[in-house]
Amino acid sequence: MPRLSRKVAIITGAAGGIGSAMAVSFAREGATLLLVDRDEAALNGLVARIGPERCSTCVADISDPEDVERATATAVDRYGRLDILMSNAGIEGRVLPLAEYPLDAFDRVMAVNVRGVFLSLRAAMPAMQESGGGSIVITSSIAGLRGFAGLSAYAASKHAVLGLMRCAALEGAAYGIRVNTIHPSPIETRMMRAIEEGAAPGAAEAAKAEFAARIPAGRYGTPEEVAALALFLAGDESGFCSGGAYSVDGAMSAG
Ligand SMILES: NC(=O)c1ccc[n+]([C@@H]2O[C@H](COP(=O)([O-])OP(=O)(O)OC[C@H]3O[C@@H](n4cnc5c(N)ncnc54)[C@H](O)[C@@H]3O)[C@@H](O)[C@H]2O)c1
Repeated sequence: MPRLSRKVAIITGAAGGIGSAMAVSFAREGATLLLVDRDEAALNGLVARIGPERCSTCVADISDPEDVERATATAVDRYGRLDILMSNAGIEGRVLPLAEYPLDAFDRVMAVNVRGVFLSLRAAMPAMQESGGGSIVITSSIAGLRGFAGLSAYAASKHAVLGLMRCAALEGAAYGIRVNTIHPSPIETRMMRAIEEGAAPGAAEAAKAEFAARIPAGRYGTPEEVAALALFLAGDESGFCSGGAYSVDGAMSAG
């Protein structure tokens, strides 16, 4: 029996490295998906990979309240219910010392990574309540548990979503809505390429080697390894897991 059969899921940031791995694995496990991202071309490529019978798209900016309401309503209108929200879209911002960090860059990171998660939860929770409960997984980061020099806005945003998760878990419990965060270490996606280049312009490979050496497992994780944790939290096997922060980080947060 597929682990997500008859479940309807929204995945934000679905076109990215981690979001697309979640989409592929959730579809394989029987879920029907609304894939949300601002990158229309990449979304269409993902539908071609998964198959249009299992998924459809909604182009939206998750920092925009109207877009988020529209995306949630689209899932319910198309598929009749909402069981799972993967609140996964995010941006890395700049890699700069705090004293040099531009205010507009800080505000944009907060708008996508915090306001976007807040808006996604606010829209999804009533729809899940109507559906008899559900599971929400927010993609935070190891930078939601620890600081990293040069990543003040990103780390602040990823810490902030723990607060949202904890409040939503308390408020959702009475309605069978579970809410958790996941905390990946560096993962092999576009985002780490941008952070490596930001940390060491023109020497991204050296930056990568240095970052990987800080992970006790000695390597970056893969998007599929993050998707495997997300799948567990999304499905009914994790029925008593709510209000938790789950690491997927090759022991990085243990040290
Ligand atoms: N890659 C890593 O090392 C790593 C580690 C920890 C946490 N994360 C988190 O995982 C999540 C996914 O990141 P990824 O590594 O797949 O990066 P990615 O850049 O490959 O994917 C991010 C996706 O989010 C989309 N997006 C960005 N802003 C958006 C907006 N305003 N509205 C709608 N979509 C938007 C992008 O178009 C992109 O498809 C992010 O929240 C990121 O912070 C990544």
